[in-house]
Amino acid sequence: MQDIDALQSEILAAIEAADSLDALENLRVAELGKKGRISGLMKGLGGMSPEERKTAGPALNGLKNTIGDAIQTAKDTLENAALDARLAAETIDISLPVPPEQRGTLHPISQVLDEITEIFADMGFTVAEGPDIEEDFYNFTALNIPPEHPARQMHDTFYFNEDENGDRKVLRTHTSPVQVRTMEKNKPPLRIIAPGRTYRSDSDQTHTPMFHQVEGLVIDEKTHMGHLKGCLDTFCRAFFEVDNVKMRFRPSYFPFTEPSAEMDIGCTRQDGELRIGEGDDWLEILGCGMVNPRVLEHAGIDSTKYQGFAFGIGIDRLAMLKYGIPDLRAFFESDLRWLRNYGFRTLDIPTLGQGLSGGTV
Ligand code: PHE
Repeated sequence: MQDIDALQSEILAAIEAADSLDALENLRVAELGKKGRISGLMKGLGGMSPEERKTAGPALNGLKNTIGDAIQTAKDTLENAALDARLAAETIDISLPVPPEQRGTLHPISQVLDEITEIFADMGFTVAEGPDIEEDFYNFTALNIPPEHPARQMHDTFYFNEDENGDRKVLRTHTSPVQVRTMEKNKPPLRIIAPGRTYRSDSDQTHTPMFHQVEGLVIDEKTHMGHLKGCLDTFCRAFFEVDNVKMRFRPSYFPFTEPSAEMDIGCTRQDGELRIGEGDDWLEILGCGMVNPRVLEHAGIDSTKYQGFAFGIGIDRLAMLKYGIPDLRAFFESDLRWLRNYGFRTLDIPTLGQGLSGGTV
């Protein structure tokens, strides 16, 4: 017993004196490792008489635990001290000015999204959101696109594997599912926009597998097609920052709106430059229509009492048009030179009062 006490004091002193993690690890191996001193003593238990073992066994176990704990505590202390030192050494002075070559910019999509939100907020719209990974029901069925409907093929959908119930989720192919989610959760009158990412299996100069849309939805008792036209006209003039934009509505078809239309804006293309709002060329920028009563009913809204319009605008398209960006794919390449050229100053929030696009770098 005397020996064990002496040994314990000796090792504890050595632990106290150890000033690095390596030194502690060496001590651990020397005492508690397979060939360590304490392990050696424990092996000796086998050769003892039962009487001797009765006292030596618990004593050695106690020694082993005490030393193990002491080494662990010492390791923790050293590790914490090392972390504190690192945290102190790596502090960043965020008040230091950032050199121009390291300054970040706002992506044109973020900028255009802020601009769009600002314009619609001014018209009394609030922002709604829905998930990117969407249920088949919201992306299709509730929008009057039942299984086997040909419109499903047009969407080039990314499907997930079937879950245990045989249902397949999808990456939403448009922002229209947010219409249904909003109508399920809120009572009319409703006036929302829903910006976000959308996905289709398509890739070329004017299509990327991920792109952005902003959905609009207005539901009350009286809203009609004239309001839709006025709303989109106000939006286009505010967005392109021109007094007049030539617009035309072409009859179209979407299962979730009736009647449906696509809207083009007038433009001229001269010497490779695109001018918005005038000229004899047309450019399609959105799909829209009066919400189909079947969609209202799917979302639990009385279609004999309520009506309204919806629209879906391609945000990337708008950004390319407004800021003269020729290739859609560059949006998603994270090329710093491109971002510096087309990016916006981060602290200039677009406001209608100060001009939307005032923050160009
Ligand atoms: N969801 C349609 C699309 O992605 C656009 C749209 C939205 C059309 C709302 C009408 C009403 O093509």
